[in-house]
Amino acid sequence: MRSVRVVIPAETREYERRVALVPDVVPRIVRSGLEVLVESGAGLPSYATDDDFRAAGAAVAAGDALDLTEAAVVASVQPLPVQQAVELSERTVTISFLQPAAEPELVEIFARRKVTAFSLDRVPRITRAQPADALSSQALVAGYRAVLVAAARLPKFFPLFMTAAGTVPPARVLVLGAGVAGLQAIATARRLGAVVEGYDVRAAAAEEVRSLGAQFVELELETQEGVGGYAREQSAEFLARQRELIGERVAIADVVITTAAIPGRPAPRLVTTEMVEAMRPGSVIVDLAAESGGNCELSRPGEEIRHHDVLVWGARNIWSDMPAHASKLYANNVAALLLLMTKDGDVSPDLDDEVLAGCCVTHAGEVRA
Ligand code: NAI
Repeated sequence: MRSVRVVIPAETREYERRVALVPDVVPRIVRSGLEVLVESGAGLPSYATDDDFRAAGAAVAAGDALDLTEAAVVASVQPLPVQQAVELSERTVTISFLQPAAEPELVEIFARRKVTAFSLDRVPRITRAQPADALSSQALVAGYRAVLVAAARLPKFFPLFMTAAGTVPPARVLVLGAGVAGLQAIATARRLGAVVEGYDVRAAAAEEVRSLGAQFVELELETQEGVGGYAREQSAEFLARQRELIGERVAIADVVITTAAIPGRPAPRLVTTEMVEAMRPGSVIVDLAAESGGNCELSRPGEEIRHHDVLVWGARNIWSDMPAHASKLYANNVAALLLLMTKDGDVSPDLDDEVLAGCCVTHAGEVRA
């Protein structure tokens, strides 16, 4: 029998340092009867060499020798480039952060070529799907990293210090948006000894924020639950009132970390220029939503802006600042999804499975909603 091949191409998009599979995770896939082929150099930006992949049981091929027509599965972090997508054979499975709304051309190509495309941004937020939940694993990386970025830039300590040279009060950190990234930011800032406040529009977040030893900021606003545990988009009036109330908390914070997001929509604007100007000089804002429009009016993705002596740091592919562990977690998510559709060494997705159905974007020539 011909072996079923899982191909890992090198990422090609700017600023992307992650890789879809790391050597540690290769044996899990090989044990399930699949063959793994990695493009030479694909792991180097996240510090995995071709030899590491070979030692783990994968084959390695130079980019110009990589034949995607033979692939049963192609796994990547970013969506495949169009020139690779048009090489795929019918029934090939692709796994990536496809973001179908942002990639209509690619979705059309996958449908036309009868590729079965899975998008890791669509994995249902249910318990059984958690091992494949790459949004959560990457949000954890982002939340952790955001705090380190802020701590390294703040001209103050995070913890309380009582020393012979005097007592230093702890830094005050405000985290806006308490989803997976926000909660990780709260936990990390607490571990560094800061006094932390958290806020979210979802009522359920209050308990989670408090369980991490932070204060939940209660605003006199109705809660804004959406579907699937996400927030819904808020009205302009709601956001204006929210900004008014948040302003006071922002003004007394040394660090503000913003993580607020609404799936498929631009990020809500929570921190205005006026609020930034009311902060103490030396304060730091880290905006994890900078790439989707920004929670802070002044943030720009990939830029560090100084405004009135406040530093505004806009994230751009923050996961690539920690490519080794971001890739490791992502690779585990990819393997979990892949093994869900693998039986007896064959890859054959069952779209009656709730998890696979939830994140399948194209199958057998059709685009699924
Ligand atoms: P996300 O990245 O879409 O958004 C981040 C946070 O921003 C959310 O908590 C959201 O409520 C908040 N937000 C939106 N607009 C806001 C505003 N105007 N002001 C303040 N906060 C605002 O969310 P994420 O991190 O992907 O989590 C979404 C939900 O999914 C959460 O309830 C989380 O607990 C849940 N979840 C469930 C899992 C499961 O398997 N059961 C796994 C992972 C997440």
